[in-house]
Amino acid sequence: MTGSWANTRVGEVDLHLDPAASGLRGSGLRGSGLRAGLMAALREAVRSGRLAPGTRLPSSRTLAADLGVARNTVATAYSELVAEGWLTARQGSGTRVAARAEPRRAAPASAAAPGPRGRPSYSLLPGSPDLASFPRQEWIRAARRALTAAPNDAFGYGYDESRGRIELRTALAGYLARARGVHAAPERIVVCSGFVHGLALLGKVLGARRVREVAVDAYGLPVHRALLAEAGLRTPALGVDARGTRTDELAGPGGTGGAGGTGGTGGTGGMGGTGRRGGVGAVLLTPAHQFPLGGALHAERRAAAVDWARATDGLILEDDYDGEFRYDRQPVGAVQGLDPERVVYLGTASKSLAPGLRLAWMVLPERLVEEVAAAKGAVDRVSSTPDQLTLAEFIASGAYDRQVRAARGRYRRRRDQLAAALADAAPEVRVTGIAAGLHAVVRLPPGTERPTLAAARDRGLALEGLSFFRHPAAPPGPDALVVGYGTPSDSAWAGALEALCRVLPT
Ligand SMILES: Cc1ncc(COP(=O)(O)O)c(C=O)c1O
Repeated sequence: MTGSWANTRVGEVDLHLDPAASGLRGSGLRGSGLRAGLMAALREAVRSGRLAPGTRLPSSRTLAADLGVARNTVATAYSELVAEGWLTARQGSGTRVAARAEPRRAAPASAAAPGPRGRPSYSLLPGSPDLASFPRQEWIRAARRALTAAPNDAFGYGYDESRGRIELRTALAGYLARARGVHAAPERIVVCSGFVHGLALLGKVLGARRVREVAVDAYGLPVHRALLAEAGLRTPALGVDARGTRTDELAGPGGTGGAGGTGGTGGTGGMGGTGRRGGVGAVLLTPAHQFPLGGALHAERRAAAVDWARATDGLILEDDYDGEFRYDRQPVGAVQGLDPERVVYLGTASKSLAPGLRLAWMVLPERLVEEVAAAKGAVDRVSSTPDQLTLAEFIASGAYDRQVRAARGRYRRRRDQLAAALADAAPEVRVTGIAAGLHAVVRLPPGTERPTLAAARDRGLALEGLSFFRHPAAPPGPDALVVGYGTPSDSAWAGALEALCRVLPT
């Protein structure tokens, strides 16, 4: 009985065995009883699938030491299980779970049976960049430089860093001011784990400030509305037309804050809001590229939003999710530059690099910085520091600009190919919202959105319709698809485009 969990043989692996099942504790078992218990516990671990085929087990010496039993007990148990076919033992690769030891896997209660059509072969769902183009080598180089230079405290809890590492906030401030026209200083920036995290934090802060309503677009991401609702906020909808979000509806007729919102899909092709009811304390906008409809917010509408915020002490939440990707002219600058004390600017690495990084940032009015940082609480105080430092180095070294510029060229080519292919294959559909971003809206003849989505499913093409994004209280809009042309890898792009052309109504 020599074992200790502080076993220091670093080349070894840990193995948990149920002490009750194996008779290791409290049973008084010794010798063959102990061996039988150990074997039963190992068999059960394999049978249940907890130890997958091929899993390496600790050496008999280490397991014996860890369990506090004689080495011979473990060695004999191992060799009997090898003889029974549960384990294999090979010189040089140690003892492993046998490849043929089939686990008994209980189907999770909620797992749907695989559909008859299986997994889609192609995806044109909006919301993702081409993951295959993540700049792995550049990122690794940035990580190496960043981690080599990092002080030891960078690997600590970061008690004083709930706003994010100063290296990243400094790099972001420079980049956002230069490239996006944001009035950014490191002290105003709070790093968060994706836009959704930032929105949830802002919802919490707004709720605590007794805001009850955050106006949103008649078309937007359901998950964003849900996050605000979780914070106890109502989300009345603003209409969207050719000039972007109807921010003029915020002030209401006569600018008094009364009910506005014309609703309907009137002459300018507008898509209706639900009319505001007063009491709106903030508005969530995607000014550079309305999601999902794709237009930029007109200068008059930008001014209307800022005027409303100034007049009512309101707040504009500016979601700049894909602001870097504009094709036909200079990217539209951020609204935040017009009044940094009235606008929260939110940016993310999810489109420019990869959503898996879960790195995003908020540039806040000064008065909100402490509250938003504090809203993170004790559980999610900081995002991974090594990742923050890597992104800081990635931006400071110019790799971020190179990545964005290269991606812009690739996505622009895809956008042009999409427009050309659709003009050819389905001249009666209309492609809109394509001046920027990674998705396009493909307008369909009335009544054809659902059948087109069903045809896409049948052909293994994942597609989303415009109606998915409609605010539940907004009136029905046109039939359309929201096509994420940024999503496929280069090798899947041609196939995805061809599949799309095949399912469009002719
Ligand atoms: C409108 C919009 N905002 C923000 C985001 C980014 O969210 P996150 O940073 O949480 O990945 C997305 C991603 O799809 C989006 O479509």
